[in-house]
Amino acid sequence: MPKHKGYVEKLMTEIRSLCEKRKAVILAHNYESPEVQDVADYVGDSLELARSALKTDAEVIVFAGVSFMAEVAAILNEDKIVLHPVKEAGCPLADFMNPQIIKRFKDKYPGSPLVAYINSYVETKFHADYIVTSASAVKLISKLDADTILFGPDKNLALYVAKKTGKNIIAVPKNGHCYVHEYLISRYHIEKVKDENPTAKLLVHPEVLPENQEVADYVGSTSQMLAAIERLGGRKFLLGTEEGLAYRAKRLHPDMEIMPVNPRAICIDMKKINLLNIKRSLETLKPQVHIEKEVREKVRSILEESLRLIR
Ligand code: 13P
Ligand code: SF4
Repeated sequence: MPKHKGYVEKLMTEIRSLCEKRKAVILAHNYESPEVQDVADYVGDSLELARSALKTDAEVIVFAGVSFMAEVAAILNEDKIVLHPVKEAGCPLADFMNPQIIKRFKDKYPGSPLVAYINSYVETKFHADYIVTSASAVKLISKLDADTILFGPDKNLALYVAKKTGKNIIAVPKNGHCYVHEYLISRYHIEKVKDENPTAKLLVHPEVLPENQEVADYVGSTSQMLAAIERLGGRKFLLGTEEGLAYRAKRLHPDMEIMPVNPRAICIDMKKINLLNIKRSLETLKPQVHIEKEVREKVRSILEESLRLIR
């Protein structure tokens, strides 16, 4: 999209006036592009966005993120219009887990609860006992009265939770991963940027490989990383996650030096949302997210119970 400043500002003004007209709010994930973060009413991680979707009294929610996040907003707001400007903006990690795979693991481990990472589609969540985000996984799983837990689809987050809780976490499936975190935040990228910035603190997302989590000063969700910047002390930080978080971090901490471990660690699907399709979506009130009643009601009760457990 053209980055001409005047053009971007004009689009942002138009979007804001459409939001007023439609009584709409824009919720944007921390990985969205700078102009999408700037036009949004709220920017956050998956847990914060689910909570904001639950709290808003707007009539329309425009979700600037990937489709599983828009689905969560729709499940929590059956009386509102939820718009996802690009329906095809999905999450390749979510594609790793489906009802057939779940059945195979449930047959092998009867009686063990299934905890679904929020990065999964609604058809998958329907078969889960609990739903967590990277910010809530350790807290919720520690509270469960079970030692063997099925968890998917991210194998690296599964290992992180196992390490933190001491429980037997079975990754469902064995190889689920996010290409951005597994391949674009590799040991090579980390060593290179650490070499160039020896005093910088390294913060990584739990979706990176366990051996790369081990060399970090902090491991957490995108918003937990933002909060950790203040706590860790120091002036220089390297963010081992999708590059969009660095913009948010620099806005929150303009006096600090913050950079992505790899500026090319880009989630293509997050970046499919832009000012033009947000504007079009507000004008046409399309595409809307609709979820079948039976699925919506069941997943809503799983989400609500999971949110209650981590309160
Ligand atoms: P957060 O919940 O940490 O924002 O992560 C979402 C995500 O998609 C990570 O790749
Ligand atoms: Fe999915 Fe990875 Fe993109 Fe997050 S960064 S939305 S896990 S593909």
